[in-house]
Amino acid sequence: MTVTERVKGHGDGHGGRHGDGHGQGHGGGHGRGGGHGHSHGGGHGHADIDWAVMAPVLEQNAEVTAPVYREVAAWLRELRGARPGDGGDRAAGVADPSLIVDAGSGPGVVTCLFAEEFPKARVIAADPEEALLERTTARAARLGLADRVGTHRAELPDGLGELPPADLIWAARSVHHVGDQGAALAALADRLAPGGTLAILEGGLAPRSLPRDFGIGRPGLQARLDAANEDWFTRMRTELPGAKETTEDWPSLLKSAGLRHVATRSFLHDLPAPLDDAARAHIIATFERYRSLATNATQGAEAADGDTATAATSAPATSAPATSAAAPAGGLTPEDAATLDRLLDPQDELSLHRRPDLFLLTAHTVHVAAKES
Ligand SMILES: C[S@@+](CC[C@H](N)C(=O)[O-])C[C@H]1O[C@@H](n2cnc3c(N)ncnc32)[C@H](O)[C@@H]1O
Repeated sequence: MTVTERVKGHGDGHGGRHGDGHGQGHGGGHGRGGGHGHSHGGGHGHADIDWAVMAPVLEQNAEVTAPVYREVAAWLRELRGARPGDGGDRAAGVADPSLIVDAGSGPGVVTCLFAEEFPKARVIAADPEEALLERTTARAARLGLADRVGTHRAELPDGLGELPPADLIWAARSVHHVGDQGAALAALADRLAPGGTLAILEGGLAPRSLPRDFGIGRPGLQARLDAANEDWFTRMRTELPGAKETTEDWPSLLKSAGLRHVATRSFLHDLPAPLDDAARAHIIATFERYRSLATNATQGAEAADGDTATAATSAPATSAPATSAAAPAGGLTPEDAATLDRLLDPQDELSLHRRPDLFLLTAHTVHVAAKES
């Protein structure tokens, strides 16, 4: 297989289920938005996520978070016990991996970043969504990485079978889109080469971007949005195909998948005010989805096509289930919805578009484990 070509048998007409996942950011950041899930490969997801529509937001999220991903890459090299370019001992871990798989790669921002950070590696972006794989291919070409970045259409837990064993598998905010998260981890572990490393990004801390009292409405809005997101996320996970209740103790789950040398580290993402335009745009996009969550929560919207909230860094879009109309989520009030309207009104001098005190503070948690050599 060349990594610049799609793996045979997965390029066309795969049509695995998709669009039925539900977004969750890590650390309480749970995304959803409008859109009926159109599936890749000709299949049609029965539910909600339109990843193609979400692609620009996913791209923006990942680009703003790029410094964190570079720190993660450095940590992964450290775990291998070698510096970049030192050669490294393949059996020991991930320094100088020859094959990296980015499972649930989205638009490929991190795929390409890892190709830069691991310059000897081939990197394969694996995702169920064809439109995202196409963006990955285009991005790799723009960055001069086309010779080392490839794509593979695949849906966990079953879709990675044709890939060669990988030295490093990276799965960022994708495992939580699988109904049976334990099965997803087992499938990922199965695709590791002996001594290879699985790194998953799940959890962390919900982002903060505003002071507790930012001069509009009832103080503490972001805490209430977190609670609403948690309510929503719990509901969404129960509606995933094959949903299985799982205690999200990621280190234990990695051990149950047969892996060892489990380690966890959280990476602070701290962008103090004043923000640059990209970070500001990222936060505005996040709050646009929050506003939909508030609308659904406070008005009991049917929300068949309504967006709803996501925390900053990860989340995809789904449409709200009709059942969400029943209960206001997270204690949000109509006053909170009005506050969000003001925050999103570019004409309002206290809006996110104009206020100088906007910041981004969050943390991303990565869990790592290795396969026996
Ligand atoms: C929140 S996005 C994260 C994208 C990327 N990892 C990042 O951090 O920017 C979740 C990704 O998981 C993918 N996904 C959803 N269900 C999946 C499944 N069952 N197997 C593999 N990937 C899936 C989506 O297509 C999407 O690209």
